[in-house]
Amino acid sequence: MIISNDDELTKLKEIGRICANALHAMAAALEPGITTLELDAIGRKVLEDAGAQSAPELVYKFPGATCISVNEEVAHGIPGPRVIKAGDLVNLDVSAEKDGFFSDTGASFAVPPVKPKIERLCRDGKRALWVGLNQVRSGAPLSRIGHAVGAFAQKNRYTLIANLASHGIGRSLHEEPAEVSTWADPDETRIMEDGLVFTVEPFLSLGGTWAEGGDDAWTLYADPQAPTVQFEHTIVTTRNGPVVLTLPDK
Ligand code: CO
Ligand code: CO
Repeated sequence: MIISNDDELTKLKEIGRICANALHAMAAALEPGITTLELDAIGRKVLEDAGAQSAPELVYKFPGATCISVNEEVAHGIPGPRVIKAGDLVNLDVSAEKDGFFSDTGASFAVPPVKPKIERLCRDGKRALWVGLNQVRSGAPLSRIGHAVGAFAQKNRYTLIANLASHGIGRSLHEEPAEVSTWADPDETRIMEDGLVFTVEPFLSLGGTWAEGGDDAWTLYADPQAPTVQFEHTIVTTRNGPVVLTLPDK
């Protein structure tokens, strides 16, 4: 969506804050022995206590309040009996709706003890997100994001999952401007309009280039299989850069 008044911005900030709070509560509980279903329940409670509804459940009838993807899973992992173990690489992705407005945030965490290359991947995944966010400004080409994140990945010898795009959001979970690539796309000619609301969420990998489905209808896996991280914020485009909506309470 494109924001046209302060009331919309206030409501987007509210649902962004709720999503971020749910993500951070889940991250704080992440330790060996907890199941992904227990983590999901923590996120669900934060959403429900704040009067928000899980967006994947509401929009796609996803079997969980949040998406939790462990190790070989890259995205859209289903919460369940899987027990978190030391060394696991876990992606938490929370999206939700309140008062007709949607927000979406995600982050990856490695459960200690962590191998140095996985620690570096997590750190650089967050850097890749900020490389993308730093390209956001009203009137600039949308393609700047993909060029900058792509160059960052290449320089640091990572790959990007090239079929998991960022997306417009606001009045629904996925909306105009539809897909926004975090890799170089020569066909991308659109401009970032003032007030445009969208996500930036690069999937940075140690070799994966594509996300493939598996046995269930949801979970996506990296092809070729490799550790992969994702960090995501929902933002509003302004002349002075992005306003990040998915920030937690201090
Ligand atoms: Co997300
Ligand atoms: Co998203």
